[in-house]
Amino acid sequence: MASLAREALRRQQAFAAADEAALDGLISVRPPAGQPRPEPVWDDAGVLEHTNVGERYRRLLLSTDTIARTALAGQFVMITVPPSGGERILLPRPMAIHRRHPQAGTIEVIYGVTGRGTTALADVAAGDGLLVTGPLGRGFEFPEGARTALLIGRGVGVCAIMGSVEDAAARGIDATVVLSGRTLSDLIGVADCAELGAAVIQVTDDDGSSAIPALGARLRAEFRAGPPEVILVCGAGVLARLAAELGAEWGVPVQVSLEAHMACGLGYCHGCAAPVATEPEVEGPLVCVDGPVFDAVLPAPQR
Ligand SMILES: Cc1cc2nc3c(=O)[nH]c(=O)nc-3n(C[C@H](O)[C@H](O)[C@H](O)COP(=O)(O)OP(=O)(O)OC[C@H]3O[C@@H](n4cnc5c(N)ncnc54)[C@H](O)[C@@H]3O)c2cc1C
Ligand code: FES
Repeated sequence: MASLAREALRRQQAFAAADEAALDGLISVRPPAGQPRPEPVWDDAGVLEHTNVGERYRRLLLSTDTIARTALAGQFVMITVPPSGGERILLPRPMAIHRRHPQAGTIEVIYGVTGRGTTALADVAAGDGLLVTGPLGRGFEFPEGARTALLIGRGVGVCAIMGSVEDAAARGIDATVVLSGRTLSDLIGVADCAELGAAVIQVTDDDGSSAIPALGARLRAEFRAGPPEVILVCGAGVLARLAAELGAEWGVPVQVSLEAHMACGLGYCHGCAAPVATEPEVEGPLVCVDGPVFDAVLPAPQR
């Protein structure tokens, strides 16, 4: 039992260690969007539900009519965390909009408790209010006329792609969704994909199926008869690189959603430059306004 747990931990650490370098040279800012982005609002959102998702995550159902009606797939919100234990938490925390329910005027956010802000957020109760700013950033966009799509999400990165699963269902796009996580009970989005009619491939660290070579082989076999027309990915640099490799092999575009530490989420503080190779004196694109979704393109091989 202990050796199984050690092996699972080793696999998780290997995933994380490989991750940082994987985005080098991969990301480029997307050409101008076809449609204007919605203007963000500052909304005192009501917390309708605050529940557990598996053992690791929490889900907020927020009443925020304008954001629910206007948010585009892959956009995010900044949540101001209320004071906790007499301590103020100054900076809001960025969170993907996991689900949009425009008719009910609600959105869902799923988060993991990782530090000070999310620990305090976990204390919020149904009936409380939360200051939410959004919708923010440039999200995922299906290419005009796309009929099939591969969407890949890992951990809370699944939340960034779920809006596109909603869009695929609404537009009749045939979506295959890879849900990756540490264990089966950790996977986010299984019920959402079932509700939205998307085909799901579940992969986990504990049985090795999420390892990049195994997943790559599985996807090449899955799409042997014909590749998807676009790949959307979020949650790990190594997955973004795998998606870019598949995109290059199949000749299809790849979009990747990134995370960065954010202070404002609005393009003012320049604290969220993307981890991409630029000239040493040149700041990378800002994840909050140029992204979080970027094009992923494999660098040309060195001669
Ligand atoms: C566009 C966007 C969408 C996001 N969507 C979600 C989501 O849907 N669900 C979710 O759980 N999280 C999401 N995040 C990450 C989330 O914002 C951070 O986990 C959160 O801000 C951590 O706050 P904290 O005060 O609890 O942790 P902190 O005390 O600030 O940090 C705790 C640990 O997490 C690391 N960390 C903090 N922020 C980030 C980050 N942005 N990227 C990588 N590491 C970080 C810190 O280095 C530290 O090790 C998103 C981030 C971005 C930029
Ligand atoms: S978070 Fe302030 S510029 Fe991006």
